[in-house]
Amino acid sequence: MRRRFPLLALALLALALAPTAAAAVDLARGETLANRWCASCHLVSPTQTRATPDAPSFAAIARRPDAPPLETYLAVTHTRMPDMALTRDEITDLSAYIRASAP
Ligand code: HEC
Repeated sequence: MRRRFPLLALALLALALAPTAAAAVDLARGETLANRWCASCHLVSPTQTRATPDAPSFAAIARRPDAPPLETYLAVTHTRMPDMALTRDEITDLSAYIRASAP
């Protein structure tokens, strides 16, 4: 029985770490989501050249000191933005991506 302990301990450790790994911010996924859902209106990366003039670029949003908290903003529907029904994980990743957009 004693010899099984390390295996059991490892399994428990893996279980304990799994939710943390799943909840970790995924910048790459934020970028994918931004390109898919936001790039039609916003400049979401320095390499993008066309967007709607009245939508601020992600870099500009990230630099604004008075910007609304992104997580709150993205969780509610806004009149000028379509309701994209983002999940909480998607909102976390997108917000992190936007914050990382400021040069
Ligand atoms: C159909 C065009 C459109 C799409 C698609 C769109 N946006 Fe917007 N967004 C706008 C416009 C226009 C504004 C500025 C006016 C306003 O606040 O409603 C804006 C404003 C914002 C703001 C607030 C900026 C500020 O400083 O107040 C954030 C944050 C934002 N968008 C994030 C996103 C994200 C993230 C996505 C993709 C999931 C997205 N938008 C998709 C048009 C769009």
